[in-house]
Amino acid sequence: MNHSFTPGQIWKDDNGKHISAHGGGILLYNDRYYWYGEDNTKGYYNNTGISCYSSTDLYNWKNEGLVLKQEDMPPELWGENLGRVERPKVIYNKKTGKFVMWMHAEQKGYAFSMAGVAVSEHPTGPFEFLFCDRPVKYEPERGFDSHTNEEELGNSFRDMTLFVDHTAENDGEADAAYVIYASEGNWTMYIVKLNSDYTWIDLPEDEGRIRPQFTEAQLGLGWSRQFIDQMREAPALFYYKNQYFMITSGCTGWDPNQAEISVSNHLMKPFKRLGDPCINDHKQTTFDSQSTFVLPVNQEKGEFIYMGDRWNPNFLGASTYVWLPLKIHPDIQAEIHWKHSWQIEEFSE
Ligand code: DGJ
Repeated sequence: MNHSFTPGQIWKDDNGKHISAHGGGILLYNDRYYWYGEDNTKGYYNNTGISCYSSTDLYNWKNEGLVLKQEDMPPELWGENLGRVERPKVIYNKKTGKFVMWMHAEQKGYAFSMAGVAVSEHPTGPFEFLFCDRPVKYEPERGFDSHTNEEELGNSFRDMTLFVDHTAENDGEADAAYVIYASEGNWTMYIVKLNSDYTWIDLPEDEGRIRPQFTEAQLGLGWSRQFIDQMREAPALFYYKNQYFMITSGCTGWDPNQAEISVSNHLMKPFKRLGDPCINDHKQTTFDSQSTFVLPVNQEKGEFIYMGDRWNPNFLGASTYVWLPLKIHPDIQAEIHWKHSWQIEEFSE
């Protein structure tokens, strides 16, 4: 049994194997936590699909197996193209009763850069893969990214997260969901509102799965561009006292860099950059990690868990996890402190 978090160490599941749920995120459903991530046990270009682990205490995780297998994804993604799926996130749709997964579907060379969408009746799958596509087309001032063929295929879709807005304050609608992703060849981050079943983006009329060509005029109407030309990735979004916070990293491949936290009172308005939330992080590398998710522990009190990946580029399967306490103070000061070992109770000490 585990009784604490030990950031950066091997973290074993109920079978005694190192957990493989990288670039992951957590869904709390019926008092159980589900941790979804990249299964990298076989390495970089052999990721076998999306893994899931479940827990009631966040320290001990039961391996629920692959909830979306490589063989259940479009064959054109794999084969010679050496496909891989990164940073999957799952949200629950109360209206449809379905679990919806979005992921970054990729191939060797990082030019494919598509969103993958899958659904399931159960949190532990199996997920049915629906499609790969790019949600938005928009020509930024610097022009379309040619490496990812944005002019033809729409704006690229890479590091991503999902966020369900339980506040209803955003646009008067409860449980609106958003996909947040690095686009424009990673130059700019997008926040795009999802439709009511969370399987595509929200369009004015139910137009099916079309990719709208946006102009400046659509900005703020279910779509915002954040950190324009700033090259941010690894977004993790959370909410505290009428403010939306986002942690992002810089763009340095698998090497860790300095995190930044930003805040906005509306998802369609620009996020203001507040700087590095890590305290006494002398190397300025987010304690040797890259953000992937922020899990609320006690949202009212500003208590969250920062979840990051400590990537091992030589063998991705050996990458570890850096989970640390993240505290937001009422004056919106954010703090992440390093701990060799810690427990959730320490928030209230
Ligand atoms: C950094 C991203 O955050 C990861 O998800 C992955 O895409 C690597 N880059 C690939 O170099």
